[in-house]
Amino acid sequence: MWVNQGPIGRPLATLLTVSVKKMNNYSVTVIGLGYVGITMSVFLANKGVNVIGIDIDYDKVKHLSAGISPIYEKNIEKYLVKALNDKKLSFTTDYNAVLKTNISFITVGTPSNPDGSININYVKNTTKSIGELLKEKKDYHLIVTRSTVIPGTNHNVIKPILEKNSGKRIGKDFGLCMNPEFLKEGNAMKDLEKPSRIVIGEFDKNSGDLLEKFYRQVYRGLKIPIIRTYLSTAELIKYANNAFLATKISFINMISRICDKLTDCDINTIAYAIGLDPRISPLFLRAGLGYGGSCLPKDVKALISFLNMNNLDSSLLYAVNRINNTQPLNVIKICEQALQTLKNKKISILGLAFKPDTDDIRNSPSLKIIDELIHREAHVTLYDPKAVDKVKKIFAEKISYSYSVHQCINQADCVIIATEWDEFKKLTPQDFLKSMKKPIIIDGRGIYNHKEFREKGIVYKRIGLGPYKI
Ligand code: UDX
Repeated sequence: MWVNQGPIGRPLATLLTVSVKKMNNYSVTVIGLGYVGITMSVFLANKGVNVIGIDIDYDKVKHLSAGISPIYEKNIEKYLVKALNDKKLSFTTDYNAVLKTNISFITVGTPSNPDGSININYVKNTTKSIGELLKEKKDYHLIVTRSTVIPGTNHNVIKPILEKNSGKRIGKDFGLCMNPEFLKEGNAMKDLEKPSRIVIGEFDKNSGDLLEKFYRQVYRGLKIPIIRTYLSTAELIKYANNAFLATKISFINMISRICDKLTDCDINTIAYAIGLDPRISPLFLRAGLGYGGSCLPKDVKALISFLNMNNLDSSLLYAVNRINNTQPLNVIKICEQALQTLKNKKISILGLAFKPDTDDIRNSPSLKIIDELIHREAHVTLYDPKAVDKVKKIFAEKISYSYSVHQCINQADCVIIATEWDEFKKLTPQDFLKSMKKPIIIDGRGIYNHKEFREKGIVYKRIGLGPYKI
């Protein structure tokens, strides 16, 4: 059974129009083959939907068509190849593909402008191209925005562009929905398999009915809440969601700074205890180097900019962002305290990706740490199971790169744990003792048991574990 919890209070899609019935064999275009577009195309095609992925990047299209994924995600290539072999999925640079389908999902990027606001040029260009094609299209077409856009964008920007370029009327000739995604990198295929909820912001009832019916078919047999609402509400749900997660992380990092001033405080115990309060929940309370990635930092900044634009108080999110920006540098302070000077010291960093199970380094705290260490003339050596080559492109010969943990930590003066990969979690005190002269470990992700490491004579420091005397 599906739950329709929309504040509009509309009944489940019962009065479906002729165009809905025609769409039982769904054909969709997914426009913008970034992280969201690729995972979504592959997932839908494996669910039996006919999917055409569109991107202006010829190389990306060529690789995807050959079964090679430009992003790292568990099992993605297995599902990609299966969908290609089943002839359910194809890729093209040609927007005319829209004409062969009933629904177009817009999944292009909305990168940050230097002032934190988002740049929606890709969304505008895509919308214009769809609009021009709609002019020639006889059947009803549904346009679904999945890109993260600030409240009001679908109504004030996307709708007028579609109407102007198609010469057609929204509601009659085409529909429009805002359908934010909540995919976690490294877990996207699982998140797509069983989403915690589906949010459908709709221009009109018909648009919402169509999209709900589509998802009901994709997720048949599963009980997933569907929230039907207005376009702007759906746009703001995405920002509220990510801003709340970011706030939780900066909150626990703020408390961890208090712990670092006291002699008998452990942030992990505090997080565990407050997380047992069902009103708080244990998730997103891991103190450490702060949040990175393509979404949380960008969305927090965009919401700050939107609040400011509307003369609303942005100080809460401003503080969240400031705490996050300064959090990675705490490990530099600890490192300096341990070694007196960082000049000419071998500092090894384990972990470059912004979180485990991805090769994504966007806004990774590691990048800030590396920059600062270079500035202090340390000899920096890096290792990550997936992201070394990406970081190489940024720092080139300024630092050294390793292709194994042991090569990286060998003869290091200090090791910084920056990403909680399973491979690092498995390391024992012995692994460090045999490679380092006098092991100093700064655990930025709280993955080791401090008692076990300290008992073996390792200088072990974790964020939020008090000022351990070095
Ligand atoms: C996030 C949202 O979770 C997702 O819903 C949205 O669609 C995109 O942004 P993602 O960027 O993949 O997903 O990363 P997420 O797993 O949320 O982690 C974000 C960052 O927060 C990582 O750098 C992670 O290390 C950090 N984090 C997370 C903490 O520092 N502490 C925590 O307790 C949890």
